[in-house]
Amino acid sequence: MIDARCSAMAQRKWKIIDEPLDVELEIPHVAYIEVKTDDSVPILFTNPINKSKGIEYDMPVLMNIFANKALTEKIFGKHPDDVAEGIEELLKLKPPKGLKAKLTMLPKLFSLKNVFPKRLKFKGECQEIIIPKEEVDLDTLPILKTWEEDGGAFITMGQVYTQSLDGKMQNLGMYRLQQYDKNHLGMHWQIHKDASHFFDQYQRAGKKMPVTIAIGGDPLYIWCGQAPMPHGMFEMLLYGFVRNKNAQLVKSISNDIYIPRDVDIVIEGFVDPTLTEIEGPFGDHTGYYTLKEAFPVMEVETITMKTNPVFAATVVGKPPLEDKYMGWATERVFLPMLKPMTPDLIDYNMPENGVFHNLILAKMKTLYKGHAMQFMHAFWGVGQMSFVKHALFVGEDAPKLEESHALATHILNRLSPKRIFITKGIVDQLDHASPEQFVGGKLGVDATGDEIKEDNIKLLLDEALLAKIQKIQPRVKALKQYMTETKNPLCVIAVEKKKSQQKLIKKLEELSAHIKVLIVVDVANNDINNPYMLIWRVTNNMDANRDVTLSPFIAIDATNKSKVDGFKREWPGDTFCTKSVLDNLQKKGLIDIDEKFIKKFGLLPF
Ligand SMILES: Cc1cc2nc3c(=O)[nH]c(=O)nc-3n(C[C@H](O)[C@H](O)[C@H](O)COP(=O)(O)O)c2cc1C
Repeated sequence: MIDARCSAMAQRKWKIIDEPLDVELEIPHVAYIEVKTDDSVPILFTNPINKSKGIEYDMPVLMNIFANKALTEKIFGKHPDDVAEGIEELLKLKPPKGLKAKLTMLPKLFSLKNVFPKRLKFKGECQEIIIPKEEVDLDTLPILKTWEEDGGAFITMGQVYTQSLDGKMQNLGMYRLQQYDKNHLGMHWQIHKDASHFFDQYQRAGKKMPVTIAIGGDPLYIWCGQAPMPHGMFEMLLYGFVRNKNAQLVKSISNDIYIPRDVDIVIEGFVDPTLTEIEGPFGDHTGYYTLKEAFPVMEVETITMKTNPVFAATVVGKPPLEDKYMGWATERVFLPMLKPMTPDLIDYNMPENGVFHNLILAKMKTLYKGHAMQFMHAFWGVGQMSFVKHALFVGEDAPKLEESHALATHILNRLSPKRIFITKGIVDQLDHASPEQFVGGKLGVDATGDEIKEDNIKLLLDEALLAKIQKIQPRVKALKQYMTETKNPLCVIAVEKKKSQQKLIKKLEELSAHIKVLIVVDVANNDINNPYMLIWRVTNNMDANRDVTLSPFIAIDATNKSKVDGFKREWPGDTFCTKSVLDNLQKKGLIDIDEKFIKKFGLLPF
């Protein structure tokens, strides 16, 4: 199948794997490894099979569609910054004065007609084949099981189309969908998301909710599905804006939901508002498993498809993965939409190893005392930005946000307990560190001011400092100091944890002459020489209210929490690859990795 999306890839290399590979673990593992390599590419698996169910599928699986920045740009047909520029222009649009201004505005206004989706009266290519309810069998689709401990197989690149009870609002969201049997899917729309709000309306009215799931078609659909559009705005408007072409929609066969005509596969059905089913566990984009939780269930009425469909899927887990590139485009496109709320914001960056909602770096022009705090609160109060746990704000004199070393130096030279503030707010449903689900700690660092004056640390070499610490607590097994040239060197220690680390932090106060910022991680599965994965671990594992102390030095307890910390929820495990699967794929020459690669990305426990 070489259609529009493949021609979008045509100029870049991509891989085709004809070897029969299992949808359980094998295909996801190959895709997972590929997208972590430099200059990764999409992969088409032409012969997916399911060994445990004895199935040979008759459609290929396409993965890593958003495999790199160049490809993401190609999918957009332009740089995401150009989309942002278009949005900014629109937001600044003022009534034209004079004939000339009116005439120059005309093309802009005229092109806006392309934003609105068109509802077609006929059937779409996605309805070339119609499978009626009696014949519906989700086992005919190569649905992947990504991780060994996943609760089953999940559709991971589903475009979930829903509408409000009164039919006035439509929504496209990208939510994973667990396959329960031949005709039931779990709807993992998290509580804060639009489809969940619609579901509440149907539940209150005691009515069945129509849902249609599309897979494939223009890859821009899937990007739009994950875009954090304001509530009530149909993501297909954004599609039309980016493409400068209306989305062409057709009606589902068995319900009133409209879906793009050119998608590959369509799963239609209804969600009974009185039913829920346990969903998960699922190895998630946080790099941890999300635990079992009840979610609504869809009963499938009809499946339709193109004559030669392709099954699109993605893998989520530890960064970097495909969502890095999707997230990059989202970050760029949404910058102008943040500005009406935070007008002096210059730029922001949500690094993928902060799994987007765990860390935001923002640059702004400050005009008054407390300005950065005001913006942090604005972020924490609106839409999906409110999930962000840790916000680091710098002023306009700071280096570019992508220049990580220069930026870290800039921040650490301005860091002081007085410029840190900790509060509480809403957190992502997936956040595992907060003491209770949905609400947790928020940490803001206002590094917009001048460098701090204090420069009084008596630095020790790593070995010397470790020896002193081990005298106090022998369970500290390793130590590494980072950014020692700054006014706030970071001292990372790895511990064999038996008790709450707050006690250790207290005991280490006697070394405060040598420590400015202390970060504690577990010795298991953390490499203290790998700052990329340390940022991932620390921002995931900390809840600022519980885990941060500010005196006599700044300390962060980023260890896994349990009863010893008074933590009452279940702490999830990391997503790890299955060693036998990796070995087998390596033997077949389908992946090429070594110990260094495995450790660098935390593929296996250590
Ligand atoms: C790969 C990937 C998987 C995702 N899976 C889910 C999911 O299972 N549930 C969910 O609520 N959001 C998930 N999201 C995030 C939503 O797609 C995103 O928050 C989107 O803006 C939701 O749309 P809505 O606001 O219209 O509900 C996922 C995002 C990506 C990139």
